[in-house]
Amino acid sequence: PVADRVADLLSRLTPEEKAGQLTQHFYFGAPQVPDGADLASLPPEQQALVLVEDAVRDGRAGSLLFVRDAATVNRMQRTAMESRLGVPLLFGFDVVHGMRTILPVPVALAASWCPETIEVGQAVAAREARALGIHWTFAPMIDIARDPRWGRIVEGAGEDPYLGAAVAAAQVRGFQGDLGPDRLVAGPKHFAGYGAARGGRDYDDADISDSELWNVYLPPFKAAVEAGALNVMSAYMDLNGIPASGNRWLLTDVLREAFGFTGFVVSDANAVRSLEVQHFARDLTDAGARAVGAGLDMEMCMADPAFARLPAAVAAGLVTEEQIDTAVRRVLTVKFRLGLFENPYAGDGRTLDLAAHRDTARVAAERGIVLLRNDRGLLPLAAPGRVAVIGELADAKRDTLGPWVFGHDTAETVTILDGLRARFEVTHAPGAHIPGRIFPSIFDRMEPPVTAPADQDDEAEIDRAVALAADADVAVVVVGQRQNQIGENASSATLDLPGRQLEQLQRITATGTPVVLVVMSGRPLDLRWADANVPAIVQAWYPGTSGGHAVAAVLAGDVSPAGRLPFTWPRHAGQVPMIYAHHRTFAPQDQDKRYWEEESTPLYPFGHGLSYASFGYANLRTAAGSVAVGETTEVSVDVTNTGSRAADEVVQIYVHQRYGSASRPVRELKGFRRVTLAPGETRTVTFPLGPAELSYWNAATRTVVQDPSTIDIWAGGSSTATTTTRLEVTP
Ligand code: IFM
Repeated sequence: PVADRVADLLSRLTPEEKAGQLTQHFYFGAPQVPDGADLASLPPEQQALVLVEDAVRDGRAGSLLFVRDAATVNRMQRTAMESRLGVPLLFGFDVVHGMRTILPVPVALAASWCPETIEVGQAVAAREARALGIHWTFAPMIDIARDPRWGRIVEGAGEDPYLGAAVAAAQVRGFQGDLGPDRLVAGPKHFAGYGAARGGRDYDDADISDSELWNVYLPPFKAAVEAGALNVMSAYMDLNGIPASGNRWLLTDVLREAFGFTGFVVSDANAVRSLEVQHFARDLTDAGARAVGAGLDMEMCMADPAFARLPAAVAAGLVTEEQIDTAVRRVLTVKFRLGLFENPYAGDGRTLDLAAHRDTARVAAERGIVLLRNDRGLLPLAAPGRVAVIGELADAKRDTLGPWVFGHDTAETVTILDGLRARFEVTHAPGAHIPGRIFPSIFDRMEPPVTAPADQDDEAEIDRAVALAADADVAVVVVGQRQNQIGENASSATLDLPGRQLEQLQRITATGTPVVLVVMSGRPLDLRWADANVPAIVQAWYPGTSGGHAVAAVLAGDVSPAGRLPFTWPRHAGQVPMIYAHHRTFAPQDQDKRYWEEESTPLYPFGHGLSYASFGYANLRTAAGSVAVGETTEVSVDVTNTGSRAADEVVQIYVHQRYGSASRPVRELKGFRRVTLAPGETRTVTFPLGPAELSYWNAATRTVVQDPSTIDIWAGGSSTATTTTRLEVTP
């Protein structure tokens, strides 16, 4: 049994080797060491690589991150296997939405509202990564994001805990499944509350009430743990004044005791050292000891790990040997469960069906695309004549993939221009130049940093784009943000379209050529002008390797769009944060008058998305009008495709509790299902409604409660659904 093997190995490790098992080093590839050069003469990053190689040789490394080719995996693994006790390394990597075949970004996967699509997609990502020798992904990112200025909104499932939990579980199942030879250990992150960074500024502290923490930020983690995730990554920031990576309540009381997590916790990169930076730990010895004491098992670190000081910390009485052993046991257990002692090396001759993977990516992209607006049925474009495709992003291979991609083959990327060219008679002008974010990053070594834009005459480019659009029968204008303007450490102070994209759109619209606006972004952008002036708006996200085909299929009408917004789309940044599940106010009749100079409603509500068909909802009913606290009933609704073509609809169920021991949000999503309906077809869709849906964490009792109350229920195609019924919950 694994436990015996772990115990035997543990008994033979020295204190330094134990600390090593708990350390994950950055490793970007072999150091460049000129013949005869001594360590001190090398640049610091080369020195660090030499030190990592030494650590692996001496059994002082448990894991490496950032290795992404089988040859390097095998070279380093051989070194580990030839070390004193031959404990294999665990190779971890950010496999966020694909390895070679890039799926649409995670927020787009969430917009599919289709857990099966997400699971199948992440299984493809796992297969491709495992083929390279990677064992473990630092994904899914399941932080609830309610402030779109925060760049990592693109990596999550948006604002809602119910949708977030379903998407989190689907991703864990996809990545990890049965942990077979084509799966990865899943590492949901960042535990917990990282998405609530003050002002949307990445890494800033989060101040979250217990009620919000339990009811909003934690449910996706609970779902990920229940789906079997073997790893969790702790967050960087202070949560309510205590750094998440040194927070015993969070990492032990909540994660292990309340949720039953049995895997190992890794820190975010350098987050243990950061306990000192954040003025929590006295020094690095204290930092390491307090992280382990809190329940953190492995330190992810660029250089000079705090955990190298764990033997000293034990000697100083800051942490016990037993606490260290517990952490080592957790790490070794996962290595044994992966079968690494028997099969440490990459490359079992397995071949990948890349064409099938690209197809999976295309279907996922199609399912996530959201039709935001379609005035007078401009879409689909049946026989559009000459199509002018405008915008740099229309033909930007790298941007089409979104952030967090490192193993792709650029030649395989189908841009929106490529996709449209395959169907229509197309001309193209890049038009307004979108300046990239120029920011140093730890990933610069894996992807060349964005360089300053080439000198170009933006005015002339815009003129050319406008002329081309004027001359066409329809203009497809692709706008948005570059992929490096979103993601980690990429907060935005505004939601404006960067550069002169809005001005260009206004000039194109003024030509009178009908405009289809395609938005490539991972966050809501300020589309007030477009919504008032452009007939059709399509949210394409960063659609991935086959993204261009997916966008073309939607524009041409082969696919009826059914993606739905996983977040509320504000009118502009001043409304942020804005969520659909807010609480009722003292003056509910004035809910739409919160600002004197701006609408109070969002531009598009949570759950919104149009279709080429139309749907009717009728007969919303519960099984028996009333139910006792603690018991489960059913709510059903008849959904009819009233349009003239087959299409998917995302049936959504919202509830509201009228009174109780706490006031509850005006609406909360408590059920959804994506269904395909033929024209004229009616389907009865049924959802459970009981304690799982109606109970919540109560700040007065500090427990989960379910109140007797009257529950309003709505069913429909967005959070503004109007079909309603009621359920009495009796004591
Ligand atoms: O996995 C990431 C994490 O999400 C943010 N910091 C860096 C880690 C490793 O790339």
